[in-house]
Amino acid sequence: MRIDHCNNIEDFRRMAKRRLPAPLFHYIDGGSDDEATLRRNSSAFDDVRLIPNGLADLSGLDLSTEVLSQKIDWPVFLSPTGMSRLFHHDGERAVARAAEKFGTIYSLSSLSTVSIEEIGALTAGPKCFQIYIHKDRALTYEFVERCKAANYSSLCLTIDTLVAGNRERDLVTGMVMPPKLTPASLLSFATHWDWSFNFLLREKFRLANVATSVNAGNSTNLISVIDYINSQFDRSITWKDAEELIAAWGGPFAIKGVMSVEDAVRARDAGASAIMISNHGGRQLDGCTAPFDMLQRICDAVGDDVEVILDGGIRRGTHVLKALAMGAKACMMGRGYLYALAAGGQKGVERALQRMRDEVERDMVLMGTAKVGDLDRSRLQNGSPLTSQGATTPNFSLAAE
Ligand SMILES: Cc1cc2nc3c(=O)[nH]c(=O)nc-3n(C[C@H](O)[C@H](O)[C@H](O)COP(=O)(O)O)c2cc1C
Repeated sequence: MRIDHCNNIEDFRRMAKRRLPAPLFHYIDGGSDDEATLRRNSSAFDDVRLIPNGLADLSGLDLSTEVLSQKIDWPVFLSPTGMSRLFHHDGERAVARAAEKFGTIYSLSSLSTVSIEEIGALTAGPKCFQIYIHKDRALTYEFVERCKAANYSSLCLTIDTLVAGNRERDLVTGMVMPPKLTPASLLSFATHWDWSFNFLLREKFRLANVATSVNAGNSTNLISVIDYINSQFDRSITWKDAEELIAAWGGPFAIKGVMSVEDAVRARDAGASAIMISNHGGRQLDGCTAPFDMLQRICDAVGDDVEVILDGGIRRGTHVLKALAMGAKACMMGRGYLYALAAGGQKGVERALQRMRDEVERDMVLMGTAKVGDLDRSRLQNGSPLTSQGATTPNFSLAAE
């Protein structure tokens, strides 16, 4: 299977599965507990159908929108995901460059393997930095100052990771940070020699933003991601801490991980300019409702006072259109580009973005809608799921496996 045979996210997923040692593939692919929320995040879109119009003069088709004070070329941008170096040796650099090329926002995780400063200087594209409130408050505020100096356009505070979700695939595969050879994983690393070669002989793995401040950032100190989260993140934080961080930043600021109407209103009242409705891609609280399931109620509660961004389950252009019609300003995707990064580095991410952008554009034409802002709820119909299994991609593919 080749990159140019990958036509949709499921194709990239299959290719990532072939390319990565099992512990790493399952680290991307997996969710928490029984993965019910992971599945629901995508299948929720099947409960709503699109109603197209015809003869609508689409000569001035325009996919652009403005979110987090940035004009982007199309209404999808990239969610923050930690440790990209594990999935391809170009890591965050590959993804940031692809985002710039496709005119959209790149979000850098606090747990990135390339530093705030290097990504800041690498591209001219808009960048959002994802922040966690660490027990070490000085480190948290140091991030804010570093992002200002490196010209990041926005900040987002993730609030759903005070403790790591129970990701049982990682327990089975022995996924540690960085990956460790255990008897169970040895065979998988050995049979993926190209990945192992690149991991061992190229740039050393490190959590670039915390490498000098926190022991866990040093690749000689092997602790699991779960241990890192459980030991470094502050569980005593409240909305007052968010308010202080928003004031310290003083620019576009999103709260990521909002799932309730109450929190959406609190985020707005704390001064956030955007909320990212997100359950961390089904990696935290299993049994949690899906972002799309909460979108209507949250949009109705916050009105136009705060931008609403949908994060989670996006696998198709039609998912994006449904979210926009329901009231979202833009959508984010995580696994959609991570599978492609693992499958083919920057080239893979570019093809995934191209295919997704093409889908959004084609679906806009098929819907008879010239501007993304023209989509509204009159173009949606509630209904029973389109597929009995909640599948979001066809169960066949022309691409060779
Ligand atoms: C491998 C992986 C790592 C992630 N790391 C982070 C992170 O460091 N910070 C964060 O706020 N969210 C993180 N997320 C969650 C994503 O930002 C996003 O919420 C999620 O991927 C959206 O769901 P989707 O994958 O269905 O698009 C991660 C997700 C994945 C799959």
